[in-house]
Amino acid sequence: MISPEVLSRYISTLGSCGARGDGGLQRYTYTAAWSEAQATVRMLMAEAGLDVYVDAVGNVFGRLPGSSGEPVILTGSHIDTVKGGGKYDGALGILAGIAALGELRAQYGSPTANLEVVALCEEEGSRFNANFLGSRAMLGLVSTEELATTFDDAGVSIREAMVGVGLDPDDVLSARRTDVAAFVELHIEQSDRLHEMGEDIGVVTVIPGVVWLGVTVLGRADHAGATSMRRRSDAFVPAAQMALAVREIALEAGDPAVITTGRWDVRPGAANIVPGEVSFTIDVRHTDASVLSGLVNEIVHRCEMLAERSGSMVQIYEQKRENPSAMDERLRTLIEESAELLGARWRTMPSGAGHDSQVWAKHVPSAIMFVPSQDGRSHVPEEYTSPEHCALGARVLAATLHRLAYRE
Ligand code: HGY
Ligand code: MN
Ligand code: MN
Repeated sequence: MISPEVLSRYISTLGSCGARGDGGLQRYTYTAAWSEAQATVRMLMAEAGLDVYVDAVGNVFGRLPGSSGEPVILTGSHIDTVKGGGKYDGALGILAGIAALGELRAQYGSPTANLEVVALCEEEGSRFNANFLGSRAMLGLVSTEELATTFDDAGVSIREAMVGVGLDPDDVLSARRTDVAAFVELHIEQSDRLHEMGEDIGVVTVIPGVVWLGVTVLGRADHAGATSMRRRSDAFVPAAQMALAVREIALEAGDPAVITTGRWDVRPGAANIVPGEVSFTIDVRHTDASVLSGLVNEIVHRCEMLAERSGSMVQIYEQKRENPSAMDERLRTLIEESAELLGARWRTMPSGAGHDSQVWAKHVPSAIMFVPSQDGRSHVPEEYTSPEHCALGARVLAATLHRLAYRE
């Protein structure tokens, strides 16, 4: 039986990798904390009786070999975290998958189709602007060129970071898999719907598309005391107006549109110097691809208008774009039926956050199921899901995988 105690132990064991003093986690891809987490996941997979292996980009797999040579039924999620993140985002999908495969092995022995749980090396884009690196490498969508030309804030390339943890970036294409028949992910909801409604399982219908824009506003750095308000060209002023304007765009569009300016860089960045250059990020999301494109166009238009009005320059470039993904109907039904079977209260719902499933869904049948996040909090140290919900989620996942991978 997959118990709350097992999931608690798993969560606290993996949650100690990359722990910061404030209770949050920082487990950036290809760092020491990430390597420690990898070793922990390998240990838990082996303890569950799975065959363990690692691919060329550092995705860790626990495999339950099938009796037939049929394609793989894959579950799992990402091992990396955001800055100051919680212990459940990504991690729970890996750990519930390990618990599920361990339980299926103990109860039913070998499956018909191969079953695998994967700890994906990178999803968040926290260190490198290379979201979903683990999933994209498995789908043959990562080149050696991307690895060599994508840098972190310290100027280290993905290539160098991979070498630093003993991986060979020239081998990246060998990570490509063509034997995956379906991808089923378990993840925390990261919002408050299930928590508010007192429900246990969310069966996701669609994952929103997301676009990241980088905006740089150019003014002129000057002495903060000696430069009159009339003479200065303070880059922060139009940048602040842009932040308020893009928020209005989201409010005008209404749910599920969301727009966030999450990262700011003010230069030179001293109290007594008028900002000459301000850069910030815009994260814009919507479940409809054409509405998403319309939002991006409106953002660019308003930012350019505000720059012109203030006599400053603005540069806007698209850092990433991942279109919305509908989840597979048949897999959704299997999750719903498994939840019913186990007496879990479930609902269908859209996702607010992005997930590896949205990349997989463009290539193989994919689905993602949620368990509740207490108070809807995530990407913060307060992120929490009860052991009971973790275990119930893992049991629903196990029942779903059983229906996919075991045949008489
Ligand atoms: O940004 C997201 O939605 C996910 O946490 N990477
Ligand atoms: Mn996340
Ligand atoms: Mn996540």
